[in-house]
Amino acid sequence: MPELSPVLEAIDRDFDNSLDRLFELLRIKSISTDPAFKADCRTAAEWLAKDLKSIGFDAGVRDTEGHPMVVGHHDGPSPDAPHVLFYGHYDVQPVDPLSLWHDDPFDPAVKEVNGVRVITGRGSSDDKGQLMTFVEACRAYKAAHGAMPCRITVLFEGEEESGSPSLHPFLEANADELKADFAMVCDTGMWDAETPAITTGLRGLVGEEITIHAADRDLHSGVYGGAAANPIRILAKILADMHDETGRVTIPGFYDGVEETPEQIKQSWNKLGMTAEKFLGEIGLSIPSGETGRSVLELVWARPTAEFNGISGGYEGDGFKTVIASKASAKVSFRLVHKQDPEKIRAAFRAFVEARLPADCRVEFQKHGSGPAIQLAFDSPMVTSAKSALSDEWGKPAQVIAMGGSIPIVGDFQSKLGMDSLLVGFGLDDDRIHSPNEKYNISSFHKGQRSWARILDAIAS
Ligand code: BES
Ligand code: ZN
Repeated sequence: MPELSPVLEAIDRDFDNSLDRLFELLRIKSISTDPAFKADCRTAAEWLAKDLKSIGFDAGVRDTEGHPMVVGHHDGPSPDAPHVLFYGHYDVQPVDPLSLWHDDPFDPAVKEVNGVRVITGRGSSDDKGQLMTFVEACRAYKAAHGAMPCRITVLFEGEEESGSPSLHPFLEANADELKADFAMVCDTGMWDAETPAITTGLRGLVGEEITIHAADRDLHSGVYGGAAANPIRILAKILADMHDETGRVTIPGFYDGVEETPEQIKQSWNKLGMTAEKFLGEIGLSIPSGETGRSVLELVWARPTAEFNGISGGYEGDGFKTVIASKASAKVSFRLVHKQDPEKIRAAFRAFVEARLPADCRVEFQKHGSGPAIQLAFDSPMVTSAKSALSDEWGKPAQVIAMGGSIPIVGDFQSKLGMDSLLVGFGLDDDRIHSPNEKYNISSFHKGQRSWARILDAIAS
């Protein structure tokens, strides 16, 4: 059993260098959803493979139909030592609107914001900063002991932010190589800046883009207005019809497989002391907008949603143009809970749209990523060990919580590789992930590395 304290000392000693390495990775513009950044995604994968090799991993970049994977293996102290698969993603979300950033999103820096030292830049929290906490913990083991505490396989993908389309088949094709005793993922958050957390529930997701087509060209809205169908009006009506006045989604069958949160769980969430004022106050709001009569934690952790993530059509430039567009489109996503079936939801949504379409108009659907909701055991030996490791590092008991975001591949780890996952992350609600001015607290990056070292130590023993 390699000792833990020299590993923690190595992390502390090397912290500034670990920041420099993270900065190198953050400078790479690996925006997976925009084809203009395809080469940057490969550069990020190559950077990671090289970094893993530098600490003794047998690592390489593996091509897929989309952005490449990075896979690396490292021996443990013995062939029968525990084997973990660590997963993270090197892709990041687009940065628009760029004008709202205070600093260049791809020129990271350490800054003080409201008295807290943070790393700025796109991906600093989601997920480059997070995945590097694990890599740095491995590096520190190597520096302190010349070895890893257990067998480790690392898997990084570049399409998580687009629903992991290439990873689903890649997992199947490489199941033997990737299967481990369990998976570890660093892509979730803490309860608050001082309190670590293990996430045992995540919502699922279905992404759909719809385009309503009407006339065969853009029209003068005086010459044709009143007679010709307006696709923006049709689209707006369809979207507006998707919720009733109590905030429930009206698509038939949408709630199939959704269960009521057990009273006992609701009470344990209430004890966490989160209020609508606190949760929404941080983002400049105060009134919960979802289903009425439910707490904000229940709304984001245990209820499904339909959200509109983008909408376009007609004249969007400066000034004014009296036009009836030929088409209008929207990007719609559904967050799923419990046993909701992603493909059934997709089909129900399509039927809902088609039923509202005038006979002389047409709709086009474009499928985006999907994955079911995740529920993991909250009393497994792995959770118990991780809980005490985290509590030791942060000096406060770790909370076991759910989160509203989605990590599509975690479902496949369970269904395709028969592996449970341990979801531990150091992100915070105010990290502004997916928004302008993303940041990662220095304390998350530093104590995150130390936390993984402790978790690996606990697993190995
Ligand atoms: N790291 C997030 C997921 C997350 C966020 C989990 C906050 C827990 C708390 C992840 O990178 C992400 O944003 N996933 C996307 C997936 C989607 C595009 C398929 C999401 O949740 O929108
Ligand atoms: Zn992420």
